[in-house]
Amino acid sequence: MKGIIYDGETAGVREGLETKEVGPAEVKVEMVAAGVCHSDLSVIDGTIKWQAPAVLGHEGAGIISEVGSEVDSLEPGDHVVLSTLASCGHCEWCSSGHPTFCRSSIGNMRHAFTLDGEPTWDFAATSVFAQETVVRAIQAVKIPDDVPLESACLIGCGVITGVGTVFNKTPVEPGQAAAVFGVGGIGLNVIQALRIKGAAPIIAVDTNPSKEALARQFGATHFIDASEGGGVEAVRAALPTEENVIAQFMGAGGVAYSYDCVGHPAVVSDAVDVLDWGGLCVVVGVPGPDARLDIPINKLNLVERAITGCRYGSSRPHHDIPQLIGLYRSGQLLLDELVTETYPLEAFDQVVHDMHEGRLARGVLKF
Ligand SMILES: NC(=O)c1ccc[n+]([C@@H]2O[C@H](COP(=O)([O-])OP(=O)(O)OC[C@H]3O[C@@H](n4cnc5c(N)ncnc54)[C@H](O)[C@@H]3O)[C@@H](O)[C@H]2O)c1
Ligand SMILES: [Zn+2]
Ligand SMILES: [Zn+2]
Repeated sequence: MKGIIYDGETAGVREGLETKEVGPAEVKVEMVAAGVCHSDLSVIDGTIKWQAPAVLGHEGAGIISEVGSEVDSLEPGDHVVLSTLASCGHCEWCSSGHPTFCRSSIGNMRHAFTLDGEPTWDFAATSVFAQETVVRAIQAVKIPDDVPLESACLIGCGVITGVGTVFNKTPVEPGQAAAVFGVGGIGLNVIQALRIKGAAPIIAVDTNPSKEALARQFGATHFIDASEGGGVEAVRAALPTEENVIAQFMGAGGVAYSYDCVGHPAVVSDAVDVLDWGGLCVVVGVPGPDARLDIPINKLNLVERAITGCRYGSSRPHHDIPQLIGLYRSGQLLLDELVTETYPLEAFDQVVHDMHEGRLARGVLKF
């Protein structure tokens, strides 16, 4: 079979791939569709360090083709969204509803494939850019057959990460102000979750002005083009009360919540600078391993601002994915609208190009 292989320098489609055997607690999935997330590109450009050769992709949906001997929750033919959390299911974190803290849910690389007979690594415990993949059964979440897999695949990272960040990490109340830096697949889902929660205003910031229409479609009330800088001042100027434009050291006024959906220290710094007293900045973006923050500590301590990270939307996939499907069915969660274009595996380079150009909400590979 074929898949997208990262060879240590670049990535492209290759034949000659085979999956490992299905273990007792594992399932094999015939992939139908997979979204391309910036984290895949970050492996290729070295921002995320990974072993090579590896099969990329971590945002996918497909159909169960084989189940291991101990698996009784799934059967061949089931439609599933794959989660990247290869959590153990029984540690203190899994048991208390925090599978993103499960020690087996991160950094667990496997030789899940062979390429021309040679051991080949997986990526993010999923490797969905292949015609078939093998994952732990706990990572496959069954969804109704009538939800299009081409849209549902995006739940596997962009949607669960973006919406989960808002739902699970920030207790947003109606009428609270929020700012979202980066209007890509993650940022758009933060924006639509803020809309569902009733946040207002919802201020989107991007260095690519062509992102405005998408930002507004998903729920942004304001769009700031930060290509020339000045994003912080523009966010503060967009806020309704006079107090908000008072530029003093402690920076009274500002938003209750800000979200870095880019992955750059300067963006996190701006995201802290737009916070009101007591505000929370959530870092979702993933910069390179050497990235450091340089933020005046007194902007945090005396006025109780905070910064937190958020991985995979702090999600509990078996709870959150059915919830997201419910919101999609009710019309509140835009999912089909996230799929800007579909591509065959052979056009992987084109998706990467279109992402860099800022043309896509998400590009989806079809198998
Ligand atoms: N924490 C997690 O669990 C998690 C999960 C998935 C993705 N991510 C990370 O989230 C980030 C975003 O991923 P994505 O798939 O949405 O990427 P994307 O490429 O779809 O979108 C990124 C957006 O940021 C914009 N941008 C770039 N520089 C900017 C700047 N200085 N200021 C404002 N906007 C800027 C781009 O124009 C683009 O619209 C990546 O770093 C990715 O690795 C984190
Ligand atoms: Zn991702
Ligand atoms: Zn666990």
